[in-house]
Amino acid sequence: MGETTLKETVKIGLLGFGTVGYGVYEILKNNQEKYLHLTQTKLEVSKILVHDTKAFPEAVEAGMPITDNFKEIIEDESIEIVVEVMGTIETARGFIVAALTNGKHVVTANKDLLAVYGDELYELAEKNGRDLYFEASVAGGIPILRALNESYIGDNLQEVLGIVNGTTNFMLTKMQEESYSYEEALRLAQELGFAESDPTGDVEGLDAARKMVILTKLAFGQSIRLDELDTKGISNILLEDFELAQQLGYTIKLIGSAKVEEGKLAVEVAPMLVPLDHPLSHVKNENNAVYVTGEAVGETMMYGPGAGRMPTANSVVADVLQIAKNIKINQTGKGLPVINSAVQLGTANVHYADVLLRCKQTEKTNEKAVSEIKADILTSKEGSIYLHLKEIHLDELNRVMDQLRNKAFVDIDAQYKSI
Ligand code: NDP
Ligand code: HSE
Repeated sequence: MGETTLKETVKIGLLGFGTVGYGVYEILKNNQEKYLHLTQTKLEVSKILVHDTKAFPEAVEAGMPITDNFKEIIEDESIEIVVEVMGTIETARGFIVAALTNGKHVVTANKDLLAVYGDELYELAEKNGRDLYFEASVAGGIPILRALNESYIGDNLQEVLGIVNGTTNFMLTKMQEESYSYEEALRLAQELGFAESDPTGDVEGLDAARKMVILTKLAFGQSIRLDELDTKGISNILLEDFELAQQLGYTIKLIGSAKVEEGKLAVEVAPMLVPLDHPLSHVKNENNAVYVTGEAVGETMMYGPGAGRMPTANSVVADVLQIAKNIKINQTGKGLPVINSAVQLGTANVHYADVLLRCKQTEKTNEKAVSEIKADILTSKEGSIYLHLKEIHLDELNRVMDQLRNKAFVDIDAQYKSI
């Protein structure tokens, strides 16, 4: 494997020709002159991996370079960049490991893979002196990873709050603003192509959790495993919950939250109370936003489409161009910056301005005991009690929840903490 040198053409192997892959191909094809000017190198997709070439008769007809044999890409020494936009975990991992160890740079949009094998792949890329970029893996079209990696790199970040799943944000918007049922909202999100083929990962918060693993690495230099992250989704939310949240001055959003308090980092994904005057409350439909607070920069927010063919492909193409530029100036394989972060993963005793609890009355429920436990009863009807807790730290919240269960005999069905 030799040193990468400037070539007249940088050849690209595209793995996957679905929603994102097709968008990447189109953008690269339609902007050739601009990219030639930017990188002084022609960028050419010279092979496209598909499962079965017979399923793509139009591509064959149009003379596109499709193949169903990965060997044709990995063994082609003229291919310098491999773009993985096919999804899967183990197969994609195998292909990316093979690409990096065979001297190729890699761009991937695969958050499922990076949330599990990210560290292994970042190290492998560095060891092999190759680039690994993955902007599209978090928040689709929003360049948040580049911002964390470059623009916020000198700051000490205190908090990253993200609406990082388009499907659930779309569903919550439709449920709250147009009174859709949960099932109707999910069906529409699927029809519009925002949801994964199995939407369980979207609605149960796993997709957002995967993105928070990647964000936590870049924002705080911490590797966190998916099973270390408390993850709740939106499948338990009722329409009434929005009304009660609104009475308190909030809306409900699925939030990925990474907060530093007293040197400890707490990361979770949960439906949370977002103040109606907070910028995150205005993020509607399939849009995403990442709200970053730093010691020096203060409060900032990046906003845009979190999913979809062209926004996601735009992020992939930006990574390809970055690699082409790195090749030009012989600066590939520098790896991710090592962030000298003093924070430690742990359970920070986070403070919440408000917490809303939806509880079920049981035969034994004692309402007098409820009001003696620092909990205001907001409403009590049809077997449900909504409780409001003010200005409370996490350790006290946990104590109050225990008392509610064991002394007042209510079942806690849902918990919404303020961001
Ligand atoms: P699609 O399912 O639309 O496309 C993936 C394509 O890759 C399919 O055509 C699939 O073929 C093909 N493929 C899968 N495995 C192989 C293989 N072993 N060999 C050859 N082809 C294969 O997915 P998307 O384009 O939507 O997503 C691609 C990646 O981008 C995923 O990692 C996704 O999480 C990520 N992403 C997607 C976003 C979006 O909005 N769509 C946003 C951000 C990230 P087949 O259908 O036959 O299995
Ligand atoms: N299903 C994902 C979402 C796609 O809804 O955000 C983009 O990662």
